[in-house]
Amino acid sequence: MDVYQAIKSRRTVREYKPDPIPQELVRKILQAGRWAPSSSNTQKWHFIAVQDRDTLAKLGKIATHGPFVGQAPLCIAVLMDDAPRPQLDAGRALQQMELMAWSEGVGMCFVGVREDDQQKAIKELLGIPEKMELITLLPFGYQADTPKGPGTPRKAMNEIIHWERFGGTAQTQ
Ligand SMILES: Cc1cc2nc3c(=O)[nH]c(=O)nc-3n(C[C@H](O)[C@H](O)[C@H](O)COP(=O)(O)O)c2cc1C
Repeated sequence: MDVYQAIKSRRTVREYKPDPIPQELVRKILQAGRWAPSSSNTQKWHFIAVQDRDTLAKLGKIATHGPFVGQAPLCIAVLMDDAPRPQLDAGRALQQMELMAWSEGVGMCFVGVREDDQQKAIKELLGIPEKMELITLLPFGYQADTPKGPGTPRKAMNEIIHWERFGGTAQTQ
């Protein structure tokens, strides 16, 4: 799958088959995060790959914005350690992981864990040092065969793209 096709076809996946993701692909997904660009190349990230069923089930119970974590065969926790621009760096790394997975038929969902009690419980469960920032949980898996609606809509180009200056429209010739 080429990059544009992966970007255009990608959709958030929240229902997973129980099938495991081959370990070689798990490593490729992690490598895709590792090779992401970061502010001043600080690479202040850590990625915890969780595949233990019991731990996944516990994460699914804690993460109220993504209980389906409990059904996924893989969950990657994204942490930042005193990074200058943690959200931007983490965002670039997780997008690369998502597209890498998608290009091989594996989907994922960004699961927000901003509530203090959820942060604390997940940090305890995964042994994450207190000083680190837990950005998100990313459950990955092969999409379950349940009926899906049409793709998530996007705003029209002319609503969000401006040519040369704000409000500028495209030249027609
Ligand atoms: C920063 C961010 C936070 C998100 N948090 C959640 C979440 O907690 N739970 C969830 O089910 N989806 C979450 N999503 C997924 C979005 O709902 C989804 O990407 C959006 O509806 C567009 O759908 P698509 O990814 O299929 O194109 C999040 C996405 C982003 C970028």
